[in-house]
Amino acid sequence: MQQLAARYTALMDAAIDAIVLIDRKGLIVDANPATLRLFGYAKTDLIGRNVSCLMPEPYRAEHDGYLGRYMNEGQPRIIGIGREVLAQRCDGSVFPIDLAVGEIRSEHASGFVGFIRDLTTRKAIEAKLAAREKELVQQRERIAEVGQLGMLAELASGISHEINQPLAAISTYAQACRRLAADPVANADVIVQTLEKINQQAERAGKVVHSMRRLVRHQGVESHTLAINGLLAEVESLLALDPHKLKITCDLDASDPCVQGDETQLQQVLVNLVRNAYEASVAAPYTVQVELRSRVLSRDWVEVAVLDRGDGVPEHLIGQVFSPFVTGRKDGLGLGLSISKSIVDAHGGDLSCRAREGGGTCFTMLLPRAGEGA
Ligand SMILES: Nc1ncnc2c1ncn2[C@@H]1O[C@H](COP(=O)(O)OP(=O)(O)OP(=O)(O)O)[C@@H](O)[C@H]1O
Ligand SMILES: [Mg+2]
Repeated sequence: MQQLAARYTALMDAAIDAIVLIDRKGLIVDANPATLRLFGYAKTDLIGRNVSCLMPEPYRAEHDGYLGRYMNEGQPRIIGIGREVLAQRCDGSVFPIDLAVGEIRSEHASGFVGFIRDLTTRKAIEAKLAAREKELVQQRERIAEVGQLGMLAELASGISHEINQPLAAISTYAQACRRLAADPVANADVIVQTLEKINQQAERAGKVVHSMRRLVRHQGVESHTLAINGLLAEVESLLALDPHKLKITCDLDASDPCVQGDETQLQQVLVNLVRNAYEASVAAPYTVQVELRSRVLSRDWVEVAVLDRGDGVPEHLIGQVFSPFVTGRKDGLGLGLSISKSIVDAHGGDLSCRAREGGGTCFTMLLPRAGEGA
């Protein structure tokens, strides 16, 4: 018997959880040192008191009822289950606990034993984790919003940049129409042709908007098989610049290679490259010469180059010209090359730039070949 008592005392003293023994009326029979530390009572204060003193309202008032119901009906609500409930310290402060209750049934003693684990720290960590999780969700939402705004800004600047060129062309053709209309000897057919060019440019503007939306949304390329030489030959008419100021010469691969791509987007690239070449050379007093070249490089690749004899890329911009908003021109936005690079990348190709021997610059676009060789 003494041995048993010694074991009991050792168990009670060593337990980290609070252990409270009550009789069948709910009066505290014993409590271990962890209980006293946790609840702030002296042992003498607890022994003989109703265990409900360790609970806050409304559980405190309801506890005798629970116990009575269990005695009469044998309906265990908590026995052997364990659950999270609230407890109250001697100083009135309430804290969360994990409570497991066992029943003592013997000839000499009967009642219940409660194991109480303080959940304050765990709950605080859980609350912190929940707050962190909430913060992360909010952060993710903010990032998504910023991403959308970024996309909007990219779309707006991209469209405004690319739409300028067909608008400028429309304006040029409209002025030509006005001149022709005022000319008594002008041929009506020429006026109709010029109006048709205005119409084409307006349609192109619509296509450019569509293609920019696809580009910004990373929706891939609306790919068709395109004869690249035909595309190069068209660039001059797309630019609608004064032929006295810009002379475009073409050196085209005789095999008339095809590429796989989006016609409007590749036209945009060529227009941007030729405009840059023109702008880099325009200070010269003579007509600006720009050369367009196509070459089949291999079974899989076609190379398209735009060559000029202009001022060359300013030294401090070498290696950066494809980044957005990098410009060496007073009225430049610095978007033409970054849009062009995005387009070429979306085609699975490559856009690069090098200085030419003897002055000037060469921009080279590599595109996957389609058709026979592909
Ligand atoms: N062919 C070229 N020769 C010399 N410099 C060039 C050439 N092409 C581009 N650059 C340099 O690269 C810069 C960036 O070109 P990009 O087309 O991206 O922007 P931009 O022409 O300045 O403005 P925009 O947005 O109107 O096109 C130019 O400002 C110019 O300094
Ligand atoms: Mg440009």
